[in-house]
Amino acid sequence: MNDAGTPALDIPATDTAAWTQVGRSRPHESARLHVLGQADYTDDIDEVRGTLHAALGLSGKAHARILDVDLAAVRASRGVRAVYTARDIPGTNDCGPIVHDDPILADGLVQYVGQPVFIVVADSHDAARRAARLANITYEELPAILTPQAARAAQSYVLPPMRLRRGDAQVAFERAPHRVKGELHVGGQEQFYLEGQIAYAIPQENDGMLVLCSTQHPSEMQHVVAHALGLHSHHVTVECRRMGGGFGGKESQSALWAAAASVAARRSGRPVKLRADRDDDMLVTGKRHCFHYEYEVGYDDDGRIVAARVDMVSRAGFSADLSGPVATRAVCHFDNTYYLSDVDIRAACGKTNTQSNTAFRGFGGPQGAIAIEYVLDEIARHLGRDALDVRKLNFYGKTDRNVTPYGQEIVDNVIHELVDELEASSDYRARRQAVEAFNRSSPVLKKGLALTPVKFGIAFNVTHLNQAGALVHVYVDGSILVNHGGTEMGQGVNTKVMQVVAHELGVDVARVRITATNTGKVANTSATAASTGADLNGKAAQDAARQIRDRLADYATKVLGGDAADVRFAADTVFVAGHEVPFAELVAKAYLARVQLWSDGYYATPGLHWDQKTMTGRPFSYFAYGAAVSEVVVDTLTGEWKLVRADALYDAGNSLNPALDIGQVEGAFIQGMGWLTTEELWWDAAGTLKTHAPSTYKIPGVSDCPEDFRVRLFANRNVEDAIHRSKAVGEPPLLLPFSVFFAIRDAISSVGGHRVQPPLNAPATCEAILDAITAVQAAAGAGAR
Ligand code: MTE
Ligand code: MOS
Repeated sequence: MNDAGTPALDIPATDTAAWTQVGRSRPHESARLHVLGQADYTDDIDEVRGTLHAALGLSGKAHARILDVDLAAVRASRGVRAVYTARDIPGTNDCGPIVHDDPILADGLVQYVGQPVFIVVADSHDAARRAARLANITYEELPAILTPQAARAAQSYVLPPMRLRRGDAQVAFERAPHRVKGELHVGGQEQFYLEGQIAYAIPQENDGMLVLCSTQHPSEMQHVVAHALGLHSHHVTVECRRMGGGFGGKESQSALWAAAASVAARRSGRPVKLRADRDDDMLVTGKRHCFHYEYEVGYDDDGRIVAARVDMVSRAGFSADLSGPVATRAVCHFDNTYYLSDVDIRAACGKTNTQSNTAFRGFGGPQGAIAIEYVLDEIARHLGRDALDVRKLNFYGKTDRNVTPYGQEIVDNVIHELVDELEASSDYRARRQAVEAFNRSSPVLKKGLALTPVKFGIAFNVTHLNQAGALVHVYVDGSILVNHGGTEMGQGVNTKVMQVVAHELGVDVARVRITATNTGKVANTSATAASTGADLNGKAAQDAARQIRDRLADYATKVLGGDAADVRFAADTVFVAGHEVPFAELVAKAYLARVQLWSDGYYATPGLHWDQKTMTGRPFSYFAYGAAVSEVVVDTLTGEWKLVRADALYDAGNSLNPALDIGQVEGAFIQGMGWLTTEELWWDAAGTLKTHAPSTYKIPGVSDCPEDFRVRLFANRNVEDAIHRSKAVGEPPLLLPFSVFFAIRDAISSVGGHRVQPPLNAPATCEAILDAITAVQAAAGAGAR
């Protein structure tokens, strides 16, 4: 024993060099709870006595002045306690994230079918919903704009259009040996989180409001609720233990629900829960933006692009929401993995009388990149070359041709070796021949094959959002509690952050527990979005854990000797000057010696800058890469198809958790496939979204997943000092199923002997496929005559 009472153990030093908690395939921290049905979602939290339930009364018109709102029948309905309209909002009637054009409740004007007009509060969820339908609203209808093309024709935008130019696309286009010009339409997508939008507002003493909410952005919910109630941020606490999926749909769009529940709770003085049923959720909330493109591209005899012009317009919906940043990301991803010397990219956010579109996995990146992929597909077909060869020819160079149109130099390009590896492992060339042979002998079923690459920029374009905080407590018994600003939506950010903290303190992950995200613990957080959750919060938690570790190391050397820099934390043990002290023992003693055993941590991504006016800068910390090969078989008589095999290779850098990352790639792949194939949003002529339930809106099911699905991670290390040299994984793999879309197009193309460009928009539903086949047959037949 030494003076501090630490036993000097003479156990031979264990090999701690190999000890790690990161880079290991740990199960998701809530996996057991998920499968046992014991994971608490907001609606599972026990209700406080006196809780009332709310429902929203929705607009039946796409664009109209409200002449009268007769709520007598609503008020008289069984179980109804109160009804609130815009006039009952104590503070500001707005829940817009950036531009303040998003009323919580329509006031005099409705701008889409499904816009909330009033809140009804009743004894039960059912009573509130029944009552919400009984309103008698008198409208004076106004002309409605429903499509992005119509918005452009009317110059109806939620924000000024943007433009990014490099070189002289016009001159280069005129000089180009070949030109292709066309239009493309890519549909939107419903997030379809399994847990719908929900907020539960519980009044607290002295004007406080606690809001339990399914949200990717607790801090923004806090601000919106404070504004709506006319209170300060310190009055409002927002907490989210987990979401049953967010996918971008709970980044800004949870605000309406948080605000409405809080307004009702504040006015009634009772806890109020507002839970959307699926139809209301789909009618009220925004989705992925559909995009319409007009493009003109010039290229040489080999297929190298020499000039590219694209004009994109999105369906923003009635308000700005995140449409601006989504369009910016689309502009910054039009290049995908390709060097475009002379380029002119325009993007506009069409103001339409529909739901206000928002974030969805990829956040405009997929919409930007698919346009250039469509163009490359056309170029290859026109030249009669394999599309993979044309793609490769246009790849960014390693040391030249390596500056993006927005001026960021690419220093981490691995697309060449990644695609080479996938081409070999997927047997691409042999399968191309096999597909051709199959098609020659199969008159009705036709196969298609495509390999598409992905490059995705990681960081929020808006520089200041790239910051995060964490709070780590080490308790006297050696157990550890972590709170960070990120939110868990199934992606595994909590598991990754646990691994980072455990690694830093040299303990098993079982010692670490993560609490619900709470605005009272970490302030001013960014949304868990842009795939940066683990990058930002992992670094912040590491910073906190390091401070504690350093204090423990100082203390240990003080009592046991040696140099603090040589102290090692591994295998639940602290190795100090030849001693091995159990972690919990050192902690207990450090407490008695009055060492601070908790710490905050902070991280701000270095080296970022962005000028939205010129659309130039270094908006991304690094790029994540990937590629996929898909093989499909299409029934040319019905338009039905099947994904036979998919191979995906993704660059997660030095992955923090390969199992979670592969899960993210698989999930994103299937979700992206749904976007481009079966998921069709359809509004009728009056502007009512008719596909507002799973009965009419088809997300992929298990049977749509390929039986042969080979997902692997590419061996790499992040050149940037990201958390343990890993790379983000949340969104980029959503672009991998471009390969499914282009494989379908390839199969259709075979019907015309690959001489006709199949007119195929996304989603490639069975109907759309059949239409394209018919068009190709007609054009090929006409050409033959
Ligand atoms: N994975 C699951 N299971 N559920 C989700 O809602 N959202 C995606 C992605 N993966 C999502 C998901 C989106 S849109 C983003 S931005 C990232 O996760 C956010 O988490 P991360 O930054 O921690 O990767
Ligand atoms: Mo993800 S779309 O950035 O929430």
